[in-house]
Amino acid sequence: MDIKAVHMKLLLLGANGQVGRELQRSLAPLGELKACDRSTVDFFDLAGLQNLVRNYRPDVIVNAAAYTDVDKAESEEAKAYKINFEAVDLLAKEAKALNAWLIHYSTDYIFDGTKKDAYKEKDETNPKSVYGKTKLQGERAIIQSKCKHLILRTSWLYSIYGNNFLNTIIRLAKEKKKLRVVSDQIGAPTSAELVADVTSLCIFRILQDDLLSEDIIGIYHLTSTGKVSWYDFAKYVIIEAQKFGDIFLTNPENIIAVNTSEYVLPAKRPANSLLNTQKLCKTFNLYLPSWQIHADRAIKELYLREV
Ligand SMILES: NC(=O)c1ccc[n+]([C@@H]2O[C@H](COP(=O)([O-])OP(=O)(O)OC[C@H]3O[C@@H](n4cnc5c(N)ncnc54)[C@H](OP(=O)(O)O)[C@@H]3O)[C@@H](O)[C@H]2O)c1
Repeated sequence: MDIKAVHMKLLLLGANGQVGRELQRSLAPLGELKACDRSTVDFFDLAGLQNLVRNYRPDVIVNAAAYTDVDKAESEEAKAYKINFEAVDLLAKEAKALNAWLIHYSTDYIFDGTKKDAYKEKDETNPKSVYGKTKLQGERAIIQSKCKHLILRTSWLYSIYGNNFLNTIIRLAKEKKKLRVVSDQIGAPTSAELVADVTSLCIFRILQDDLLSEDIIGIYHLTSTGKVSWYDFAKYVIIEAQKFGDIFLTNPENIIAVNTSEYVLPAKRPANSLLNTQKLCKTFNLYLPSWQIHADRAIKELYLREV
């Protein structure tokens, strides 16, 4: 295979988020990487965002920035709209003008979660939250712009940094004797590390052959393999964490399964968050590991970090 030795310029936005932090590592070997967080460019300043792209002239834009507080979005619709739609719309138009690739992330929240099986890319969307609606508007803006793009829909993200279910459960299991966790929502916990690694592999593949890559433009589902409820995930995390001798953790028997209806939050969550990843695996010749593989790694890393 003839791999082109080209000087590639990559622009990473949202570099301080869960996926963004991992992308700083995984994108680095692909070319010259400019990693920007909110302090470099605030998405509320669309002119500033436009200037950044126009001055740097990237070959690939990876947008890991998003308004991700799903509950707060219910009362901050304008803000969510600005970040998840208007800024994305601008990035897509700039990517089109530069003939650059735009790699963007979306979410299972664009579905209503009523399907029995895992959602495929072409399944009907029906977001039930402000967050989901604005993310879908972002997807549509990218498609409409006709820029070269990959929209990677993922779900149930966690990393060893930041606010996520895995970190929260370990913290709460130390603070509280009993925990109530929802058992009627299912998904595949997916590590930000996996999302970043797969993103880099996809970019590497599309840049190897730019002709072939035109056929690759589109939406893909990217999650770990397998399924679990939040309740079973919580128990799993505590059982694994106990193996590191953490005596402050409550026992897994103290986790109480509750229904979504008993745990009221501002934003509606999909009952079924499972995404079918066959298209991604087939197109990019990838293997996606079971969710336990990265969960084990993350728990181990959290405890080794504390030593
Ligand atoms: N988390 C999930 O479970 C989940 C599930 C499915 C899909 N996704 C999608 O996956 C992608 C990555 O998610 P993630 O979990 O890595 O998100 P995250 O940790 O919340 O990171 C989002 C990043 O966006 C940045 N950001 C927010 N508002 C901004 C603004 N006005 N200007 C510039 N930057 C701004 C944040 O900056 P600060 O650090 O300064 O706040 C943060 O670093 C997103 O597109 C998200 O919608 C996430």
